[in-house]
Amino acid sequence: MKSVIRASIIFALLLFAMACSPESPQSTFGTHGPVAELQKNLFLFTFWIAVVVFIIVEGGIIFLTFKYRKKDDKLPVQTHGNLKLEITWTIIPAIIVVIIAIPTVLAIWETQVMPNEEESLVIEATGHQWWFEFKYPTEEVVTANELHLPEDTDVIVKITSQDVLHSFWIPKIAGKLDMVPNHENQLYIKADDPGLYYGQCAEFCGIVHAMMRFRVIVHPQEDYQDWLNDMRTPPAKLASGSDEDEGRKLFVGNCSMCHTYDSYKKGAYTKEIDAQYNRWEEWKKDKENSAIVSAPNLTHFGNRITLGAGIKENNYDNLVKWIENPDKIKLGTRMKNHAVIYKEENQLSTEQIEQIAKYLLSLKPSSESSATYNK
Ligand code: CUA
Repeated sequence: MKSVIRASIIFALLLFAMACSPESPQSTFGTHGPVAELQKNLFLFTFWIAVVVFIIVEGGIIFLTFKYRKKDDKLPVQTHGNLKLEITWTIIPAIIVVIIAIPTVLAIWETQVMPNEEESLVIEATGHQWWFEFKYPTEEVVTANELHLPEDTDVIVKITSQDVLHSFWIPKIAGKLDMVPNHENQLYIKADDPGLYYGQCAEFCGIVHAMMRFRVIVHPQEDYQDWLNDMRTPPAKLASGSDEDEGRKLFVGNCSMCHTYDSYKKGAYTKEIDAQYNRWEEWKKDKENSAIVSAPNLTHFGNRITLGAGIKENNYDNLVKWIENPDKIKLGTRMKNHAVIYKEENQLSTEQIEQIAKYLLSLKPSSESSATYNK
């Protein structure tokens, strides 16, 4: 029994230590941006003060317990109140609170004031059950579940939600902020180093809340411009009769009411905003049976790292499984509940599903084309 308890304690401590490791993908200790750094320092400052208080108080309790434990039957000296002590243990905590409050308030001020919009990159992030939509209004680019940022750039993220409360959080870059329907919150972020980071919804928002994730790709400046150009570049033409082309027809017929796949075109940005709004309105009219619902934009899906909003690596096998039955990977997706292909009478064959997967993975900017518009 003892060894089981010992093993469980070691296991729990190990888990705890692993969660704190700066290398773990959602650790707030491995910071890569000034906002996360500021928040981490504030946490550590408060933490170490708490450690000192803990040691003094617990040490005092242990010391007094042993020093004054019952040694004989004599009644100890009886005291009633001690003004000096009471004043001391009121003033000391008050001072500690002030010491913690000063850097806290300064940090709040520092992160709440947005930089000049003209000199910053403005991104609109919208929460949906259960995925993230990212729009770049000045660049007229729209994507989903993958946020692309240039390094060392002031970014203002305008945050909202289409349906319920969500929360936008990139642990290594900045702390979380609620995504509220019909209300815009603003979050200042900046990423110091190119790389891949994890994002997560941090507000309970329904059955697949925990699987509502996204990835953040921080690019060096030039690469970021290339990414923008890629987002405006059409994919290669598909050979007629190929699996990909058959998949395209199936996709257009069955999936394209909810998933836009061609936002590389000029003017596609405003079209997508309208489309997403109309899908939502359509779904609201009949939440049970609507065949239409807001869904992630799939432009250049072949370049995405993950599928299912950050849940699985985006590859052929996973994509086939996802299209076959998204609920097996992410129970409760709107796709399974609303898309026509999951109705008994419209089910696709394995071959058709494979063709759609091949088509989606072929969606990448073609090296033979160039951007359809410029900003
Ligand atoms: Cu969205 Cu939790």
